[in-house]
Amino acid sequence: MRTLRTVSELRTAVRAARRQDPQAQIGLVPTMGALHDGHLELMRQARLECEHVVVSLFVNPSQFNAEADLAAYPRDELTDAGLVTDAGADFLFAPALETVYPPGFATSVQLSGPLVDSLEGAHRGAAHFHGVTTVVTKLLNMVQPDVAFFGAKDAQQVLVIRKLVADLDLPVRIEAVSTVREPDGLARSSRNVRLTPDDRPQAIALHAALTAAEQAYAAGERDAAVVRAAAATEMTRRGIAPEYLALVDPTTLSPVTTVADGTLVAVAAHVGGVRLIDNTTLQSPSPNGRR
Ligand code: PAF
Repeated sequence: MRTLRTVSELRTAVRAARRQDPQAQIGLVPTMGALHDGHLELMRQARLECEHVVVSLFVNPSQFNAEADLAAYPRDELTDAGLVTDAGADFLFAPALETVYPPGFATSVQLSGPLVDSLEGAHRGAAHFHGVTTVVTKLLNMVQPDVAFFGAKDAQQVLVIRKLVADLDLPVRIEAVSTVREPDGLARSSRNVRLTPDDRPQAIALHAALTAAEQAYAAGERDAAVVRAAAATEMTRRGIAPEYLALVDPTTLSPVTTVADGTLVAVAAHVGGVRLIDNTTLQSPSPNGRR
């Protein structure tokens, strides 16, 4: 595994890989570090599908809406580099801030409309997604991968990036990889390390809410308000108030009044000082009882 710092080092390495085998697929796993099992799953998937895997590590200031959140973001490149090596990736692209945003940088890539204004956008501000789309466009241009892998936990981010890629005709396939969970159901997130031992038990409120929504749907309930109420009750029981708990169309993110297979249930909540998000997609149970 080689760590690359500059765009020219990166391009030379990717060009050499392509020259060796023009059919080879290049996979990109964009990360902000603080790697956990969710990221390792992205890398495993990339390794399965691609001959060459680039993992990027860049804590992107423009997608944080609070200075304190950016300052508190866990950083440990040495440990991350070890995990990237163990995962069998070929390159770690870890550029400096000035490499991504050189002095005088003045361009922003912005989607408009409900995909960026709803859910996370409504609570964090659409500027969060403008930061994401700008840096992802840059990373895709720098690496020029065939496939880029993103976590399904950030369902809205995946939709936004797919729209970005479609609108700008970017020659890359976007793949969403299933959420990895702790044994009690808490979705893996770089923020979980900031949960105090006192707050940690309450963090399963999000997963419990999603499970309640799934169970209500599996039991035949189709009224979105009733499904939402079942989910909200699970959070209240654990003393957690949702920032949002929404049942939405999985492609437009518009709220639905009747749920169906594919309806996205998305939730965000503060647990202690930590903001967590999670989601599930409703599916009718299969005849053998499995989802
Ligand atoms: O999902 C993340 O970790 C970030 O939003 C991403 C895609 C690496 C862009 O900074």
